[in-house]
Amino acid sequence: MILSVVLLLLAVIWTVQYRFRRRRMYELASKISHPKDELPLIGVTHKFMGNTENIMKSLKQFSYEAMETDGVTRVWLNHILYFVMVNPGDLEVVLKTCMEKDDLHRVIRSIIGNGTLFAPVSIWRRRRKVLIPAFSPKIVESFVEIFSEQSQHITHKVARMCGSGTVNLWPIVSAYSLDAACESTAGVKIYAQSKANSQFLTSLEEGLNIVCERMFHLWLQVEWLFRLLPQYTKYQKCIKHVLEFSDEIIHNKRKELMNDKQSITKCDNDRSYDFGDYKRKSFLELLIHLSGGEKGYTDLELREEILTIIIAGTDTSAVGMAFTLILLGKYPDIQQKVYEELKEVFGDSNRPLVKEDLPKLKYLERVVKESLRLFPPAPFIIRKVEKELTLPSGVTIPSGSGIFVSIFGAHRDPKYWGPDAEHFDPDRFLPERFNLQHACSYMPFSYGPRNCVGYQYALKSIQTALTSILRNYKVIGEPEKGPIPNIRIKVDIMLKAAEGFYVKFEKRKPC
Ligand code: HEM
Ligand SMILES: *[C@@H]1O[C@H](CO)[C@@H](O)[C@H](O)[C@H]1NC(C)=O
Repeated sequence: MILSVVLLLLAVIWTVQYRFRRRRMYELASKISHPKDELPLIGVTHKFMGNTENIMKSLKQFSYEAMETDGVTRVWLNHILYFVMVNPGDLEVVLKTCMEKDDLHRVIRSIIGNGTLFAPVSIWRRRRKVLIPAFSPKIVESFVEIFSEQSQHITHKVARMCGSGTVNLWPIVSAYSLDAACESTAGVKIYAQSKANSQFLTSLEEGLNIVCERMFHLWLQVEWLFRLLPQYTKYQKCIKHVLEFSDEIIHNKRKELMNDKQSITKCDNDRSYDFGDYKRKSFLELLIHLSGGEKGYTDLELREEILTIIIAGTDTSAVGMAFTLILLGKYPDIQQKVYEELKEVFGDSNRPLVKEDLPKLKYLERVVKESLRLFPPAPFIIRKVEKELTLPSGVTIPSGSGIFVSIFGAHRDPKYWGPDAEHFDPDRFLPERFNLQHACSYMPFSYGPRNCVGYQYALKSIQTALTSILRNYKVIGEPEKGPIPNIRIKVDIMLKAAEGFYVKFEKRKPC
């Protein structure tokens, strides 16, 4: 009896002093509007209980509520405070000042460790410095050859599906994206597209799926609890495959570079050597070189960076391609315009695309941009607030909280995009029509010092693959009745179509 009174008393004291320590946080939070369906103590945690479609619904709801209330909504995930923000002026400041990623991301670190994407700022700085020159426009351009070659495989795959009814695009585009990423990253061809299922791809996908569940289902973040569940064993197996795969690549490349070096020193210097692809180095070689050669990145650091590039670059681009194709299936008139532009550039020839073709495909570029606006592959970024921050709109964000940068919301805010913000209208990107007041109103690749380093790579990869498909095939979907595309969405870390990406293909020229 006495014991329970003492325990109760201790609990009360602890709570009071916990709340007192965080009084500034509660005070500032109380000034911001919040969802009506939040509950005492747990806040909106119950809104993240369901599957990833429900999680997306909740995040969408918070984003739309933010649009209606000065661009910000606050939500409690149990004791953790988040602000969901859509105001582009505020987001500009957030993305320039809050460089640290939120703690929710720590579960991903079990795959990519301290790789650039989610590394703590102290480590991120150096990694970013090494990465930037590897993504220079010249180098990215040199990869178009890989994209072009790899997208021929897509066309072959589509050819086999032609006339066989409705097909799921996802395996096709993600295998392309992975093949392209692995070849440019590590200089290896893994032929994910020609295999029924690549073990690396399935392991990566399953691993990321579990990571996403863990991010939003807070109880799964408790390590000992997670270890008791069947997902844990599955997760360990996935990670093992992924890490073995990347270690093998690095090991082989190191060996190859050693051999090259020996063969250089053996021969005399006045002869020029034909290293074949030597002009086009893979990211792996570039990173070894740029980080300082043998004194540079360790094998662990290399693995983290290589996996980061593959993870950051594969699904994102595939999602961008898949949504664009679905939209073209829904809007045949827009697809026809894309096709006419392709005919203008390629005529009747079936020559492969070269890098000089891409800048000529202006309409295709607008279509891709508009698709990335309505369906940004990375719809939310979560940053940590380490120091109290007052934003241009006047809102003060307390330290110790987190910010959901709602790219999804910023892209659909009628305050900046007009009353037709939800319409699929590629021509809103025509130079004469496009004039945004804020850089952060359109940011599929984020903004500021920690934005996406791969955005040019992504755009070129997506446009090359789409070109290859659309020159030869017509995508057929359920035509949309109005200008607003209806696609159910979910958030598996990346934004995806909840029901999968289903279309039909029809050959353009007689088979
Ligand atoms: C449509 C495709 C893509 C989209 C929508 C996209 C979007 C993003 C976003 C939103 C971020 C987070 C930035 C932040 O926290 O502010 C990011 C980071 C990053 N992305 Fe991409 N990305 C795409 C493709 C790629 C590709 C193809 C690569 C590499 C080949 C890549 C490499 C990276 C890296 C390394 C980072 C981490 C940057 C840092 O933390 O400094 N991304 N990307
Ligand atoms: C990241 O680096 C820090 C400092 O070097 C280290 O303590 C930590 O274990 C690393 N994290 C991971 C997940 O490898």
